[in-house]
Amino acid sequence: MVDYPPVNCVPGPMYSHEPLASESIQAGLSPQARGLLTELALHQEIDSTNAEAMRRLGGGSGSGLVVSAEQQTAGRGRRGRRWVSPLGTNLYLSLAWTFDRGVEAMGGLSLAVGVAVADALDQQGLPGVGLKWPNDILHGGAKLGGILVETAGNNGGPADAVVGIGINLRMPEDSAGDIDQAWTDVERARGSGMGRNALFSTLLNHLLPLLAGFEREGFGAWRERWLSRNVHAGRRVTLTSGASTVAGVVQGIDESGALLLDVGGTTRSFNGGEISLRGEP
Ligand code: BTN
Repeated sequence: MVDYPPVNCVPGPMYSHEPLASESIQAGLSPQARGLLTELALHQEIDSTNAEAMRRLGGGSGSGLVVSAEQQTAGRGRRGRRWVSPLGTNLYLSLAWTFDRGVEAMGGLSLAVGVAVADALDQQGLPGVGLKWPNDILHGGAKLGGILVETAGNNGGPADAVVGIGINLRMPEDSAGDIDQAWTDVERARGSGMGRNALFSTLLNHLLPLLAGFEREGFGAWRERWLSRNVHAGRRVTLTSGASTVAGVVQGIDESGALLLDVGGTTRSFNGGEISLRGEP
């Protein structure tokens, strides 16, 4: 495991926050999370923490591996987008987990992860975090973070999931120009002072137990909590999926995490796509 930068290093000008430090993150873990974490791999720079976690799973690592980096050179967003990942400021982490029943046991996982991330931010002093279906993390209507779940394996047999999370803590102005949507960061939302390593530990305290219990509990255990943070409840939206668009009023989500839209008086469910408020780009 690479543990960089060293725990006692003095933050240089390139770090606008405390550097990530394994000891500090591990010290903040609950006994349950400590028991579930098998390896914490911190990198100075990597292409993508999701890509690295997937490579490690292919190489035999299993459930409980966590990969993070100070900077990603090819951070991945949803739908083939790039995730802007400047050095030493935001958080980029990926958790690996193997599901015995395969990808069918992962339905709604990315939505449940959104709830866990919002709860962790809440616990660290940022209330008011909202969720946009399927799994954007918002504050004040702007994007604070994102989730990208990638899978490898089949239905019916064991399959691997990599749960990637990016949270904007303090987005440098010179990187912000590369972001193609309304964004915010923790410092804008609440002011400075949220410890980077403390937030990392709190995220793991919520996420590792979620992953350990998800195959048994399923998304049903998370649905109400997701709905309580749904920023689009009752709003008229447009759902875009590939070349098709559908307009409707958000009714909620079902037990599998599918979006329920009232389309001309009929409730229809949708498994993929992206929603925007009517009139928004
Ligand atoms: C989104 O588009 O909303 C999802 C963004 C997910 C970004 C995170 S950062 C850590 C992990 N590694 C990646 O390459 N992507 C995810």
